[in-house]
Amino acid sequence: MIDKKKVMEGSAVYTPQLLSLYNFGVLQLSNSYIWRCPTSRLLSQYNQFVTANHLDVGVGTGYFLAHCQFPTNQPRIALMDLNTNSLNYAAQKIAPYQPEVYQQDVFDPITTNIEPFESISLNYLFHCLPGTILEKEIVIKNLKTILKDKGRIFGSTILAHGGEKNPMAEMLMNFYNSKGIFHNNNDTLEGLEEILKRHFSQVSVKVHGCVAIFLAEN
Ligand SMILES: C[S@@+](CC[C@H](N)C(=O)[O-])C[C@H]1O[C@@H](n2cnc3c(N)ncnc32)[C@H](O)[C@@H]1O
Repeated sequence: MIDKKKVMEGSAVYTPQLLSLYNFGVLQLSNSYIWRCPTSRLLSQYNQFVTANHLDVGVGTGYFLAHCQFPTNQPRIALMDLNTNSLNYAAQKIAPYQPEVYQQDVFDPITTNIEPFESISLNYLFHCLPGTILEKEIVIKNLKTILKDKGRIFGSTILAHGGEKNPMAEMLMNFYNSKGIFHNNNDTLEGLEEILKRHFSQVSVKVHGCVAIFLAEN
């Protein structure tokens, strides 16, 4: 059973103040020097797999949406997050695209009537979610209800087990887990592969530093 209090904690940390520091602190510093997976690597995944009909889940600052190259000038873009600070921040960054905005806890079934997407990205979301990696499967199940039959899910997550963890990464991960910012103590590479394979026939998971970069489609 997922602890709702921990779900709220994992999202509530994204205040406007923290979001204003996020791109520098996480995307520039931590990704390169702690998690050892430069943001350029994650952006290149975006550029490769984003479609003209795309949903980003766990939007944070909207960095990838603001910097990736869509295959068309007028893509349909939607934002989904539990936290309205993140939704507002990201929506403002990509305002010219006039994104659809959905406030949603990814652990809950999606009851809003939403036209399905060709691609859905989940970047740095799983490690914020409480529970074991197997308990996080419900997120994929929920999102699949708004993914087209031939659509794809892609993204990345910081792993506690299965990545290459240097001492700094170990220390910071333990600290974030103790504060309820991360909930990835039980996240394994095998577990991530398993939950994706339960819903998709073609799954690829690559490890870069502490980060698992995944793609799943049928
Ligand atoms: C680490 S940020 C990721 C930001 C962005 N995707 C990136 O990679 O730069 C995690 C985001 O997930 C959101 N989030 C956390 N728990 C959530 C949940 N249960 N449902 C929906 N969004 C959630 C947070 O509010 C935050 O915006």
